[in-house]
Amino acid sequence: MERQQSSFYFQVFHSIEELSDADASLLKMAKDATSHAYAPYSKFCVGAALVLDDGTIISGSNQENAAYPLCMCAERVALYAASSLHPDKKIMKMAVVAHKKNHKDLTPATCCGSCRQVLVEFESRQNKPIELIMLGPDHKWIKAPSAASTLPLGFSKESLDI
Ligand code: THU
Repeated sequence: MERQQSSFYFQVFHSIEELSDADASLLKMAKDATSHAYAPYSKFCVGAALVLDDGTIISGSNQENAAYPLCMCAERVALYAASSLHPDKKIMKMAVVAHKKNHKDLTPATCCGSCRQVLVEFESRQNKPIELIMLGPDHKWIKAPSAASTLPLGFSKESLDI
């Protein structure tokens, strides 16, 4: 049996004060974005904020629909806005937070698999990893060095015969 040695690591922080000022400020912008979530069905408000290589910040929030499968995650709203508005800039980092409606405290929420897949495609397009900051299941802040580090064996264009 072959074992693949992983060079990925996640940094874990017990409180927001342990994060850099830049990371804490990006998280604050993600939290602010939750106020624009349209989540009447799940009542789960998600905000994402990403920073581009020139310092521009783009945020997004989840947008739901009565036809449930059409709901769009906050991360992808922000990513697609970034690539539409600033196609030539690279995405450096993304922070994601969530809270349940009427509960102002943040609740653990890590990026869903679909968003990880989309993030990995962005990393491939820009040939640069995107750092991710999110609140892990035990209320500890997780900083991942790249989206790829959160999606082992993800599907990639290498499988396509093009
Ligand atoms: N959601 C996100 O915005 N991002 C994720 O990574 C996971 C889930 C949204 C989708 C839906 O509007 C609500 O959270 C409940 O799943």
